[in-house]
Amino acid sequence: MPDTFILGIESSCDETAAAVVRSGEQVVSNVVASQIATHQPYGGVVPELASREHLRAIVPVVRQALAEAGKNYESIDALAVTQGPGLAGALLVGISYAKALAFALEKPLIAVNHLEGHIHAVLLEERQKGNRELQFPVLALVVSGGHTHLYLAELLSLESGSFESGGESWSYENIGHTRDDAAGEAFDKVAKLLGLGYPGGPVIDRLSKHGDPRAVKFGTAQIKHPDRKTSASIQNIRVDPGVHARDGEQVRGGRAWTPATTRFDFSYSGIKTAVLRYVETHGLAASIEARRKALGAIIKPKLEDYLAHCDKQTLDLVASFQRTMVEDLVSKTLAAAREYDVATLFVTGGVAANNELRQTFEQESALEGLPVFFPSRPLSTDNAAMIAAAAYPKFLAKDFAAMDFSAEAGLALR
Ligand code: KG4
Ligand code: ZN
Repeated sequence: MPDTFILGIESSCDETAAAVVRSGEQVVSNVVASQIATHQPYGGVVPELASREHLRAIVPVVRQALAEAGKNYESIDALAVTQGPGLAGALLVGISYAKALAFALEKPLIAVNHLEGHIHAVLLEERQKGNRELQFPVLALVVSGGHTHLYLAELLSLESGSFESGGESWSYENIGHTRDDAAGEAFDKVAKLLGLGYPGGPVIDRLSKHGDPRAVKFGTAQIKHPDRKTSASIQNIRVDPGVHARDGEQVRGGRAWTPATTRFDFSYSGIKTAVLRYVETHGLAASIEARRKALGAIIKPKLEDYLAHCDKQTLDLVASFQRTMVEDLVSKTLAAAREYDVATLFVTGGVAANNELRQTFEQESALEGLPVFFPSRPLSTDNAAMIAAAAYPKFLAKDFAAMDFSAEAGLALR
């Protein structure tokens, strides 16, 4: 099989990205233009501004990705672009540009689900390291600013038990998702609430090391009601997974269920409200306002700047918030891994860059003998290499997009 070079384009949120990936297994170039500076004053992504920034950045970013790969438009084999989920206006910029290029160059175009991209970021890097012996099924936690999803990923038409790229196709079953805020969204909202700026994840990650994670007790969300977002025919009752056997049917509370009906859902809007209550009851508003002003006056605040404007109480609050988030993500994911008896765990998406999350997953899954894989930090957050990598099996299967496909803001992964 000759090498295949796919140009990936990603514009689903606040990063304009382009990358060239060889045969789904080697990042040849990876360019990401971040819009953080544009959205920072608003404490979150402003969709209209995101679309405008993508329009500004897309041509130079694609040119740079080709130049760094030593490629030109003619010498790539195919284009891949994120179809969704994401901000409709932002997605449309990447899709329109990719369509125009594909049409002019007479090259195939592949539409990729952003969440599948996050999962393939792990596969791409494992192949790049020479690891071709992953065991299936895989449980993937995709945890980012827009998503907290658990997928069972299966490799179909598997040849000889290895995941050597080629001739494969993937299927995904969603076994859990957030009922309200995504985990990254909670990091961003709590950081905004505490006057720490945007995005919240990286700064909370760094500050947490300086606080006591046991100082403030937050209860974790107990989800007991059915999920109204999913099919009424599915019994989405959140139950304590610790009491279930791994396989077969059990009866609980008089109702029969099978593992396929158990969901592992998350909920993070409650913890954000709990932080707000803490701020109110401990009279922190004035010091938060002072911090917001002081940090807002610094162009790129460093860790020392944040520390200079955070007292011990705030550092303890931040560390306790992060600890609660990490414990909830890890315990629910590992409970799902046990219930579905998976062989391998992937943790991917922007929040997978979090140091405490990585360490805790590594420690806890080692205790269960479950191998866990993360992307490198640059491939944890949004990038286009993951889009080009996810497109490769589709390229081999000639699963090309029709020229009239459009952005799908709520695209599901199956
Ligand atoms: O995957 P991503 O770049 O974009 C989405 O698809 O949403 O994820 C961005 C999210 C933001 O909410 C950001 O605060 C969070 O990932 N994030 C982190 C860290 N780095 C980025 N959260 C916790 N710890 C981090 N180190
Ligand atoms: Zn993402």
